[in-house]
Amino acid sequence: MGFLADSLARVQPSPTIAVTTKARELKDAGLDVIGLGAGEPDFDTPDNIKQAAIDAINRGETKYTAVDGIPQLKQAIVNKFKRENDLTYATDEITVGTGGKQVLFNAFLATLNPGDEVIIPAPYWVSYPDIVLLCGGTPVFVETTLESGFRLTPEALDKAITPNTKWFIFNSPSNPSGAAYGREELKALTDVLMRHGHVWVLTDDMYEHLTYDGFTFVSPAELEPGLAGRTLTLNGVSKAYAMTGWRIGYAGGPKKLIKAMAKIQSQSTSNPSSVSQWAAVEALEGPQDFIPERAKVFRDRRDLVVSMLNQAKGINCPTPEGAFYVYPSCAGCIGKKTPKGTALRSDEDFVTALLEEEGVAVVHGEAFGLSPFFRISYATSTEALEEACRRIQRFCAGLT
Ligand SMILES: Cc1ncc(COP(=O)(O)O)c(C=O)c1O
Repeated sequence: MGFLADSLARVQPSPTIAVTTKARELKDAGLDVIGLGAGEPDFDTPDNIKQAAIDAINRGETKYTAVDGIPQLKQAIVNKFKRENDLTYATDEITVGTGGKQVLFNAFLATLNPGDEVIIPAPYWVSYPDIVLLCGGTPVFVETTLESGFRLTPEALDKAITPNTKWFIFNSPSNPSGAAYGREELKALTDVLMRHGHVWVLTDDMYEHLTYDGFTFVSPAELEPGLAGRTLTLNGVSKAYAMTGWRIGYAGGPKKLIKAMAKIQSQSTSNPSSVSQWAAVEALEGPQDFIPERAKVFRDRRDLVVSMLNQAKGINCPTPEGAFYVYPSCAGCIGKKTPKGTALRSDEDFVTALLEEEGVAVVHGEAFGLSPFFRISYATSTEALEEACRRIQRFCAGLT
């Protein structure tokens, strides 16, 4: 009998963390490395939010709280869903966890039985398949294409649904592609979902506030209220409020699901950090004007990166609607050799050689389920992005 659980063999260590580790090793060895792998804003948490946390500590808000969130935060989330998404939830239809990641775990642990399928459009956020696998479910991948802007077509969704489908994961704007669905594109999907009443929708709206060029974000249950009774609307403060380290994620959904999720959380972490919860109240209820200001900075960086990458030989980079990632194709570089003689047979070869020969760390598309692509996070300084793109241009120009 082995010591480690069989379930561990089903999952992979995070490829994004593996790239970051390799980049750090090369940096420690003296190489000048630019890291474009991290999925977090480079901005700091706003001062009013930090102050709310300090005030909470000074008030003695340092004890256990209700398992899935203090009433004040649940109310702030109810208000947020109403204000920004026209979604109506009661406080007992809200759950708060230690990051969106824990909320996802709770939802799948609470609902997945062996044989249950979860539809995941590719490219996908690296954690979805592994969370599904750890919770005993079966991920079903549906590939999208560069031509469709990495958006799932209604036909492909319809085809993927079986009697065993329990969940459909929807993520717009997407990590890693930055693709977002407009009203019409989303309506085409919700129409399909309305025809399959046994499928639940997990919509991951984490990048809701990071959209550009006047794009209007819309969430599935907002667009199709008929889905609200089987939709979990997931969000959090990590990306919009630059609060990745505070670990607060939340969701709204039907009471029976929310209650089941709280039961699981009560036997794992109990409440998310009391101090972080008070900071999240201020994030959601305090001034919001810095969000569009920061989004403008991200848009300028996106435009810079897309333009410079499209000048690199063999790279084709579409312009995404949101998030802080681009997902260019490196198909034009596959089958070539680097100046140091490395053959590029896959996107993994491409990113490994790019890191070793030019000191630019990006993540290969295979990690996100769609090749041959790579992901660049542009949540870093304009100077670093310019230099990284210059190096990518030089690297591609040197391929033979
Ligand atoms: C698409 C997506 N969903 C959820 C998360 C989880 O965020 P957190 O656990 O920080 O709330 C991330 C973080 O990278 C993400 O990219």
